[in-house]
Amino acid sequence: MRIYKAKDYADMSRKAANIVSAQVIMKPNCVLGLATGSTPIGLYKQLVEWFRKGDLDFSEVMTVNLDEYKGLSRENDQSYYYFMHQNLFDHVNIPVENTHLPNGMEPDSEKECRRYTELIQSLGGVDLQLLGIGHNGHIGFNEPGESFDKQVHCVNLTESTIEANKRFFASAEDVPKQAYTMGIKTIMQSKKILIVASGEDKAEIVQKAFFGPITPQVPASVLQLHNDVTLVADEAALSKLSE
Ligand code: PGA
Repeated sequence: MRIYKAKDYADMSRKAANIVSAQVIMKPNCVLGLATGSTPIGLYKQLVEWFRKGDLDFSEVMTVNLDEYKGLSRENDQSYYYFMHQNLFDHVNIPVENTHLPNGMEPDSEKECRRYTELIQSLGGVDLQLLGIGHNGHIGFNEPGESFDKQVHCVNLTESTIEANKRFFASAEDVPKQAYTMGIKTIMQSKKILIVASGEDKAEIVQKAFFGPITPQVPASVLQLHNDVTLVADEAALSKLSE
């Protein structure tokens, strides 16, 4: 695993955006696996800026997002569909038909998970998967205890994730209780993985995930077994690693 230490959030965003942009330049029709959450927002801003300057072209890029809440429509401002359009898709020249997320409005979980798994396969797999990391080590919506051999599936969100996400909803009752997510196996099949982490509150989980035992109790720890992982984190998020 490569670790790039950034000074702060802005520096982390720029360094990580450089890696995404190198991927797009080297393979203009690449498949990017994208993530939501607060951490990648600066990275997306940076990509938009480079696109506006004429340095990046997304016209052939294809994207597949990690996850989506089950039960939220595209118009809901908390849906990941909405997030991706707000933060990236609406500001670059990616054809909307090249962008993919699980369909949160499909009530038949089995059908939707099969569709999304097959879709990723039909695109030839993910070239570069971007990930954030949750305080409990989750990646996508793969919570502690989830088996490592799952493809796209529907999960019941844990109390801690509902708690962490309720700031975005009127109340905890309004937070969806389920989500569709790429499984650990889907994520591990990506050719390259880029994880971003920022802030002191992530320091403990970064240490555990990348230097602790590999266990389903810390889903991100499985990434130690992937042969092409890059972690871009700021000093605060790396502060618990010993030299
Ligand atoms: P965050 O979320 O970027 O908002 O901290 C990360 C995650 O839960 O994957």
